[in-house]
Amino acid sequence: MILLAPMEGLLDFVLRDILTRVGGIDRCVSEFIRITDQLLPERVFTRIVPELLNGGRTLAGVPVRAQLLGSDPVCLAENAGRLAELGPAGIDLNFGCPAKIVNRHGGGAALLDEPDTIAAIVAAVRRAVPAHMPVSAKMRLGFNDDSRAVECALAIAGGGADELVVHARTKAQAYRPPAYWERIADIRAAVRIPVVANGEIWTVDDARLCRQASGCESLMLGRGVVTDPGLGLAIKASMNGPASGTTAGIDWPELLPLLAEFWHVVCTRLDARARAGRLKQWLNFLRRRFPEAEIAYQQIRTVNDPVLIDAWLAGVVQRQEGPRPLVQSRAQ
Ligand SMILES: Cc1cc2nc3c(=O)[nH]c(=O)nc-3n(C[C@H](O)[C@H](O)[C@H](O)COP(=O)(O)O)c2cc1C
Repeated sequence: MILLAPMEGLLDFVLRDILTRVGGIDRCVSEFIRITDQLLPERVFTRIVPELLNGGRTLAGVPVRAQLLGSDPVCLAENAGRLAELGPAGIDLNFGCPAKIVNRHGGGAALLDEPDTIAAIVAAVRRAVPAHMPVSAKMRLGFNDDSRAVECALAIAGGGADELVVHARTKAQAYRPPAYWERIADIRAAVRIPVVANGEIWTVDDARLCRQASGCESLMLGRGVVTDPGLGLAIKASMNGPASGTTAGIDWPELLPLLAEFWHVVCTRLDARARAGRLKQWLNFLRRRFPEAEIAYQQIRTVNDPVLIDAWLAGVVQRQEGPRPLVQSRAQ
């Protein structure tokens, strides 16, 4: 199984929609919905996870679990119960967010120093959600160090979670490479639930090495897929045949219509002021993989007017498709 990672501020429903159209992704997790001390109204859940209005799936039909973040078992359970009524493909719990504001309130990665609270949260949410609905969790290896990683994983499994994703770094290690995939193997050996490996998988080779080191069959991909939308397809192809993986992704001509579609969805769903930034944000990742994206990024780096971007993108797509035959003017 290949899972698409939750990424607040980057991988929202718009990009989930586009990336799952490419293929190679079996399931998504939404960006976190922060729970403090209130029962959130339905509209907050459907704003962050509009897939709830589509049977809990992206338009391409890929299931989406909604992720909750918080530190109060009672409040999380109450919100999980309401969320469950909206029919997500499952509920995921965040035990890894490194954001200061979240940690200060005892949520995200801060909970990795409190395995008992983790167990209480998972158990309370599990009880509040119908038995048929999966409850999963995502953790880092620890807050300052990884000495309690297995203890936290046992707390998650003991609380009744169906699956555990491990981002193989501590909060203190932030996003600095490497990811310590071999530590996921220790967790796998300790718990009976399926474990999914996550962190620093950018290529088919990384996926192979991560599988070897962690022992996990299932992988969660984040920045790697945003940078190379065909990565999931390529990894799957490489599993089917030894040498096929290197060519099985998608190339720039295939990506361009998706970029145009992304822009179209951004323009229909986002505020005019936010639109150019979203396109540049994605191009900024794509340019690590595609030289054409670097050129595109440089061309619009300073442009903020959506009308100008519209015209620019139409030109790029047309040049890629080649000149269209001129419409014959009618004889006078
Ligand atoms: C911009 C950004 C936002 C993220 N938001 C979330 C989030 O909402 N919930 C979560 O569990 N992890 C979040 N993460 C962590 C990712 O899901 C993932 O664990 C991390 O990026 C490592 O995977 P990668 O190397 O494949 O990107 C975020 C990461 C980034 C870079």
